[in-house]
Amino acid sequence: MKQRDSSRIPGFHRLAMDERRRRLEQIIGDGGAFPGEGLSEQLADALIENAVGVFGVPLGVATNFVVNRAEVLVPMAVEEPSVIAAASNAARMARAGGGFLAEADPSLTVAQIELCGPSAGAAERIAAAAGELLALADATQAELVTLGGGAREIAVREEPALGDRLVVHVVVDCRDAMGANTVNTMAEALSSRMAELAGARAGLRIITNLADRRLARAQTAIPLAALGREGFDGAAVAAGIASASDFAAADPYRAATHNKGIFNGIDALLLATGNDWRAVEAGGHAFAARSGRYAPLSSWRVDSGTLQGGIELPMAVGIIGGASRDHPTARRCLDLLGVETAAELAGIAASVGLAQNLAALAALAAEGIQAGHMRLHARRRRSS
Ligand code: MEV
Repeated sequence: MKQRDSSRIPGFHRLAMDERRRRLEQIIGDGGAFPGEGLSEQLADALIENAVGVFGVPLGVATNFVVNRAEVLVPMAVEEPSVIAAASNAARMARAGGGFLAEADPSLTVAQIELCGPSAGAAERIAAAAGELLALADATQAELVTLGGGAREIAVREEPALGDRLVVHVVVDCRDAMGANTVNTMAEALSSRMAELAGARAGLRIITNLADRRLARAQTAIPLAALGREGFDGAAVAAGIASASDFAAADPYRAATHNKGIFNGIDALLLATGNDWRAVEAGGHAFAARSGRYAPLSSWRVDSGTLQGGIELPMAVGIIGGASRDHPTARRCLDLLGVETAAELAGIAASVGLAQNLAALAALAAEGIQAGHMRLHARRRRSS
């Protein structure tokens, strides 16, 4: 991570927009503009088909974040009012306990190859040919292999629920890329040899978005006093947050909304950095249902005079390739974050999700979400 002096910029929200931009340009310190030029029509036309224009979404920056002792300013692209104010507010509370500690697994991304109607002994033959298959996969990705990544594992799944099919997982270290293009290319290159080995017909060949080999985790411990808010003392807010966490664990209807609040933060960061937020949402919700019962992705409890929270979820993100490379605003947002690896971005995304969840639960446990929103709207009316 690039070091920033501080993500605490008191009064940032009261500055004029161009003044906010100037402050961020000083912080990035490379002489370039922030957020710089947006997506031109020419680039939009190159990115997608049938382009007819560029759709604007507000881009803001959440302040106050500390992740693994580093000061982090979080770019967020989001149209929902109060998301960025709420994230900044939660990050300020978490700061009182040292912020967030986060980590991410290595960037292992999995492609699935479906083999239909395999003959007897297919699983054993594929397992025995793992070395040959890994080499075949790596041969399609010379650059990734040079960077230290590549295919790592061939895992055959034979389960009653799969019926008359074998499913082979190709596990690939994608380093700093999200990796969908990489693993899809590998899967397509491997499928005919696999079908031959299995005496089967090759079916689907595609990434799984249930990226459970690529989890990110974040945790925080916040002194109760830091949670106090107008009319509510910190201990009462913390007790309300812990109770809301239990409610989500007990009820999938509540868990869905709890997790929606988490993705309010994560998606906004992922959109701003040119990442595939739909893939991360799909992975998060599938992971939340892994026990067979949809569950919250985070939990909170009061212990030893602190409110302790943690989150774990799949986080397949990249800082190279795709829109992270092609979208000029996404590139500037990555510059602002100062991340140097996909794992750093994944840890920040998990922290932002936990912060967003904290903000929502704190408001719900105290004055209520609508009352909080109304305060923001009133401020906007005053300032407009
Ligand atoms: C609204 O966008 C998100 C919340 O509903 C999340 C939650 O209820 O935890 C406030």
